[in-house]
Amino acid sequence: MREYGLYINGEWIKSATGRSFMTKNPANGETLAFIAQGVKKDVDKAAEASIKSLPMWKKFPPPKRGEILLKAAATMRRRKDELGEMVTKEMGKVIAEGKGDVQEAIDFLEYIAGEGRRLLGETTPSELPNKICLTLRQPIGVVGCITPWNFPMAVPCWKLGAALIAGNAVVFKPATLTPLCAATLIEILEEAGLPPGVLNMVTGSAEEVGEAIVQHPQIRSLSFTGGVAAGKDIYSKAASLLKRVGLELGGKNPQIVMDDAHIELAVEGVLFGAFGTSGQRCTATSRLIVHEKVFPEVKERILERTKALKIGDPLDPKIDVGPVASQEQEKKILSYINIGKKEGAGLLCGGKKLKGGIYDEGFFIAPAIFEAQHGMRITKEEIFGPVLSLIKAKDYEEAIAVANDVEYGLSSSIYTKNVYLSFQAMQDLEAGVTYINAPTIGAEVHLPFGGLKNTGNGIREAGSEAIHEFTEIKSVFVDYSGRLQKAQIAAS
Ligand code: UN1
Repeated sequence: MREYGLYINGEWIKSATGRSFMTKNPANGETLAFIAQGVKKDVDKAAEASIKSLPMWKKFPPPKRGEILLKAAATMRRRKDELGEMVTKEMGKVIAEGKGDVQEAIDFLEYIAGEGRRLLGETTPSELPNKICLTLRQPIGVVGCITPWNFPMAVPCWKLGAALIAGNAVVFKPATLTPLCAATLIEILEEAGLPPGVLNMVTGSAEEVGEAIVQHPQIRSLSFTGGVAAGKDIYSKAASLLKRVGLELGGKNPQIVMDDAHIELAVEGVLFGAFGTSGQRCTATSRLIVHEKVFPEVKERILERTKALKIGDPLDPKIDVGPVASQEQEKKILSYINIGKKEGAGLLCGGKKLKGGIYDEGFFIAPAIFEAQHGMRITKEEIFGPVLSLIKAKDYEEAIAVANDVEYGLSSSIYTKNVYLSFQAMQDLEAGVTYINAPTIGAEVHLPFGGLKNTGNGIREAGSEAIHEFTEIKSVFVDYSGRLQKAQIAAS
């Protein structure tokens, strides 16, 4: 069994306490690796290594930084099948999606490597003669990246890739459920030529390692993807330290189906959106808001398709839905299914822990569909599992009102053939991401990603925004007049 240490200053080392923990396969309980259990002292060490490496990394030409990321992407492409299997084994998503996770990591590294040849600033004239003004994008310094378990390759690459290309040094804490994927990613970046000290990984708990990263005075900026409660905690602590924070938190994403929609396509879409990754994406569809005219037809078809989904070993390509990621997840999802029943929502299918055979070894829940009334807790709170609420709406206006009446605003979708409504919905849906005739999941990396309301704090990841999260902007004024010129004060 492989044992992984912490990765600090280019070396794999034991944690200060020498303790470690296990990472396990949620489909069968198999132990995959032993991982060092970091503590505050280790974060201090990681921050120190980061600080030491900064002057060198700042001077490292950005296109050369990009070459390292491209090399890592090429390795991931070569090893895609094996890495996809690793994602599936450690996190439980089905193998096609495990490979998709790796592909998204590759896509982003390739995209952001090109930023090494841009990092664009502006040039603009001055109000004074013989003077020019420009802006530079500069690294923030040492940044902390804290990543979730649901995209164990892709999300770390979004954050690390953007932070590194911009010239920051990073202290990285991956989710405790998926440290094997994180450690493997580190090995790939190391092999691609990332200099020691530039990227340091401390595995361990949120309470110990996450907290130490948030509190460390020299970690100037934090990027976090995860739950709302943790996000609020980080944001409030960081506020008193005046740190910059990027948050990507929950979702309660709606898919609207209008009466003129291509029904088969809409049903196909929601199956993927709601039950892909066992519903454990922050972009997952958790509400299907259906025009009353087509409600009975949509309900019938989706039930039929959901009951036919194959649930089982996620490594088997014939399986549609794998386990949920942990016992804790399983408990939370089942408790929400109970809440739904108690508040009077009609459970139309699924919603039970599966038992017998391989199901006894892992955390398998049959995808659940509720017929619900807007306002019930299951229609408003993030469940992060394979649970979908069907909600009836009488027209477009009501569908949009219901879609928007939640505290989140990450992803959203509408199925309609009406071009007018499509364009209205692009404006009307309160979300950072909107799909027309496509499910709520599957954002591409070259577009900004993030959401409104409690989904975040206005920061976007990926796309043209990625670099903004990890850079400071400097304004520069170059006076080549050879004399003192005073802005705002006219020479008389
Ligand atoms: C997440 O669940 O945190 O749009 C990210 C999607 C993926 C990213 C999800 N590209 O579903």
